[in-house]
Amino acid sequence: VRTETTIAGLRAHLKSVRSRAQTVALVPTMGYLHEGHLTLVDRASKRADHVVVSLFVNPLQFGPAEDLATYPRDLSRDSTLTEARGAHTLFAPSVKEMYPKMPEIVITAPALSDRLCGHFRPGHFSGVLTVVAKLFNIVQPDIAVFGQKDFQQSVLIRRMVSDLNLTVEIDVAPIVREPDGLALSSRNIYLSAEQRTAAVALSSALRWSAAQFAQGERSAAALLTAARSLLDGETGVTVQYLELVAPDTLDSVETAKPGDVLAVAAFVGKTRLIDNVVLGA
Ligand code: PAF
Repeated sequence: VRTETTIAGLRAHLKSVRSRAQTVALVPTMGYLHEGHLTLVDRASKRADHVVVSLFVNPLQFGPAEDLATYPRDLSRDSTLTEARGAHTLFAPSVKEMYPKMPEIVITAPALSDRLCGHFRPGHFSGVLTVVAKLFNIVQPDIAVFGQKDFQQSVLIRRMVSDLNLTVEIDVAPIVREPDGLALSSRNIYLSAEQRTAAVALSSALRWSAAQFAQGERSAAALLTAARSLLDGETGVTVQYLELVAPDTLDSVETAKPGDVLAVAAFVGKTRLIDNVVLGA
């Protein structure tokens, strides 16, 4: 796999790719890839001739008390993993390359960013949207693939593409889980053995409510109470939010319908984990 670290280098390379009439897919990541990311690479390979994976820990999307400094990074490992899955180009720019100066112009989504994770992470989604818009402009992909685990992020990116008439197609891939249900995340490496066991409560709680929905329960209050009691019963898990929302507006619903999303964020020790399930999927 070829690695480009500069915007000019990547653009020159992709110009020659496109001159051979090849289509380009982008998989934006912050690196330290796991199987969830690699399935995004698989999907990208099926949809385009040339797959670019970006690896960039974006400082703009981390809050002052968050894990920017300790976020895991390993370019050579990511390079081996993506090569094995057929990616063609890695784009691994420095912070200086992406932000020679702090951007004055940023993308914000005031209402949608105030919901779910955004409510607890002020500025996070503006940082995400701004870097994703930059990556779209740098790579100019035909398609970009994101993961459903970052559900709110995928909603915001689709909305950005629609509101700003961007030409890229957005594909969102289902969550990849460990055999016991834990959603894969680069942050799972922060968990101790004990916390790793406790963390299963997130997916178990969501699965339990989704099963109740499948059996006919439609009351959001009932579905949330069931999930909440499972989470609250797990020592070491502190729920930040648990909500049942409509998939496009992220508004809370009272009566659940297929396609609504049950989303959770919880701290397991100091590690903040998120997960979600689409009802009736
Ligand atoms: O989902 C992520 O890893 C990041 O938020 C993204 C989309 C790569 C932007 O930095």
